[in-house]
Amino acid sequence: MTLPIIIDTDPGQDDAVAIMLALASPEIEVLGLTTVAGNVPVHLTSMNALKVCELAGRQEIPVFAGAARPLVRSPVTAEEVHGRTGLDGPILPVPKMPLQTTYAVDFIVDTLMARPAGTVTVCTLGPLTNLGLALLREPRIATRIRQIVTMGGGYFEQGNITPSAEFNIYVDPHAARLVLESGAPITLIPLDCTHQLLTTKARVSQFKKMQNLAGPAIADMLEFFERYDEAKYGPDDAPLHDPSVIAWLLEPTLFEGKLVNVSIECESQLTMGATVIDWWRVTGRPHNAMVIGSANAEGFFKLLSTRIARLP
Ligand code: RIB
Ligand code: CA
Repeated sequence: MTLPIIIDTDPGQDDAVAIMLALASPEIEVLGLTTVAGNVPVHLTSMNALKVCELAGRQEIPVFAGAARPLVRSPVTAEEVHGRTGLDGPILPVPKMPLQTTYAVDFIVDTLMARPAGTVTVCTLGPLTNLGLALLREPRIATRIRQIVTMGGGYFEQGNITPSAEFNIYVDPHAARLVLESGAPITLIPLDCTHQLLTTKARVSQFKKMQNLAGPAIADMLEFFERYDEAKYGPDDAPLHDPSVIAWLLEPTLFEGKLVNVSIECESQLTMGATVIDWWRVTGRPHNAMVIGSANAEGFFKLLSTRIARLP
């Protein structure tokens, strides 16, 4: 029994690795990729999503372009981290496969309304604008989603783009609030978890020596992507964020977390986009998310490299 998922994404090197992990895993059926403005503008995240599908030899995967800007705030991008293209590192060919003509938000709504309730998982790897717009357009999807698995936020680790906010939430805090208040089952994988998943040179070398196209391409992505975080966190200390979302679906026992309340700061300029996570349950707020606080890093990278080795 495969798990049908939609991946909402802003590739981004770490998004690319997450997408390839999903495409390399027979337990998962990727119904489509929906792209969003985030690390780079949406025309580039869309182009990058097509490149990743072709790199994985999966030209049949439909890719739908989505929101070009957040619900309320002005766009924020991260070329300083991901490069001008958003997927700097490997030289990947211009994709032959076309973008779908359907708008990503319509694909999300139409898929969730057409498929049996409780069967489709939505994995978000970037700002939550598309999912927020889908909830505004058709609130009933909140009761039909099997679960939302989101990379975003931070508690003990606080933020990465500001001292108090993680990038995906910071870019569109209003969309994040909509999703967290939707009532849909949510698993949130914050920096507290992904900062335990470090792309050390030994781990990157596992990809570099693979005898396929995917492995060395991922090594090139990681070596580009990690340079920014190594300057910030120290050598060999660059975290790998987005593949944790797919790894959680594949092997949830690699992770630990608890059901708590997560609220989003949407007013303060100082702490805009902060995920206020009631980890010690000191408020009476509803427990609206399973927040993942820790991961088995060795197990995660073993799963990731084993699966990537299966790709062309
Ligand atoms: O803060 C890390 C997140 O922001 C990752 O999803 C990365 O791709 C960027 O989108
Ligand atoms: Ca991302």
